[in-house]
Amino acid sequence: MLTFEDSLIGPLSQEQEDLSFFVKEIEEKMMKRVGKGSEFLGWLDLPTRSKNDLEKIQKIGDKTKTLCDVLVVIGIGGSYLGAKALWDALGPYYGSNPSCPELLFLGTDLSGEHIRETLEYLDDKEICVNVISKSGTTLEPAVAFSYIRNYMKKRYGEDVKNRIIITTDRIKGALRPLVNEEGYSSFIVPDDVGGRYSVFTPVGLFPLAVGGIDIQGLLYGAEDAMKECNTLKEKSPSARYAIGRQRLQNEGKDIEILGTYDPKLALFGDWYIQLFGESEGKEGKGIYPSSLLFTRDLHSMGQMIQEGKRNIFETLVHVLEEPKTRFESSWELTGIESYKDISVEEMNQAAYEGTKKAHLKGEVPIMEWILEKRDAYHMGGLIYYFQRACGISAYLTNVNPFDQPGVEEYKKRMFSILDQRK
Ligand code: PA5
Repeated sequence: MLTFEDSLIGPLSQEQEDLSFFVKEIEEKMMKRVGKGSEFLGWLDLPTRSKNDLEKIQKIGDKTKTLCDVLVVIGIGGSYLGAKALWDALGPYYGSNPSCPELLFLGTDLSGEHIRETLEYLDDKEICVNVISKSGTTLEPAVAFSYIRNYMKKRYGEDVKNRIIITTDRIKGALRPLVNEEGYSSFIVPDDVGGRYSVFTPVGLFPLAVGGIDIQGLLYGAEDAMKECNTLKEKSPSARYAIGRQRLQNEGKDIEILGTYDPKLALFGDWYIQLFGESEGKEGKGIYPSSLLFTRDLHSMGQMIQEGKRNIFETLVHVLEEPKTRFESSWELTGIESYKDISVEEMNQAAYEGTKKAHLKGEVPIMEWILEKRDAYHMGGLIYYFQRACGISAYLTNVNPFDQPGVEEYKKRMFSILDQRK
């Protein structure tokens, strides 16, 4: 089960009821595909639509698995974060799933050292590459892909065409011609889906399938969440989350911390930051999205949350964990003897409950997503609820959730400096 809890932000206010009215209108417009940026609303029904891609993903995925120990996934922003967040959440802490390649992510920076050390690391391993760029013109993945493609040509000669898989736009960009000229396998990023909403397309599904993640489970979870949102409209978990955020912002809380006590969900926080940051942060508006991993970050940001400026609210993603990791009775413990019968999971639960009480006392309102388990089904649902909440939330402030004009600003200036230095 995946539930959303907003009772800790106080009783339903008149304002929340008023916002519900607007959310109903927003939901109806989204379903009819009208409104700002509506040409990018294709993600709404991806959980069912993407089932059509599963056969091809499986076929190319199976071949890829037999060829490599490592799949290098090259992409940035929306062409990276969904797959990386889900790989961290559902894959192993170290290495790979049984009989599957390890996933290694590249193309998220302009560090020559990162590229050089990656190529050294790959030297004694069999590799394949999945380069993902909807536009095909983004500098970071283009640089990483150029280096790795040359490296692979030297290593594999003709066989390189079996080892590179390109995920890009149907027609546009520099990568599509390469598919045609060199005969690489390829996937299409649908025209009506933007980067940060693309994890349920081959952008996320293909690398995850190669890594041994249950992508059908992801889509089932997302589909159930989609059906709930379609039916409940302004009362769905996504709608209630969007309304809660808006109400808290109106009360002066304009920083959101996405907090989790599960280290495997740390990267989900990065995915959420991109989703809400790029969708809402425009026209001088937006809640500042941030993410923290507890208990680690209680030892750095705990002070600020408890006693700093009171403009913060928290959204927790909490996984109900079974107690299972216990000390053996023969062990000598170092200063924690009195806790010897308590499992690590129970300690984490105590930290979670205690911190919640402390933060509420410190006037930090808390909303919460509760997952019965951290598995593909629940993660698929969570991602869908967040995407839908983000669309609603941005529309509530009357901005286009699906463009990112501010990002283009830095690119223009960077390319003009590069052009002067050619
Ligand atoms: O959400 C978005 O649209 C962006 O974050 C893009 O995904 C990111 O800039 C990468 O773009 P591309 O896939 O075209 O390389």
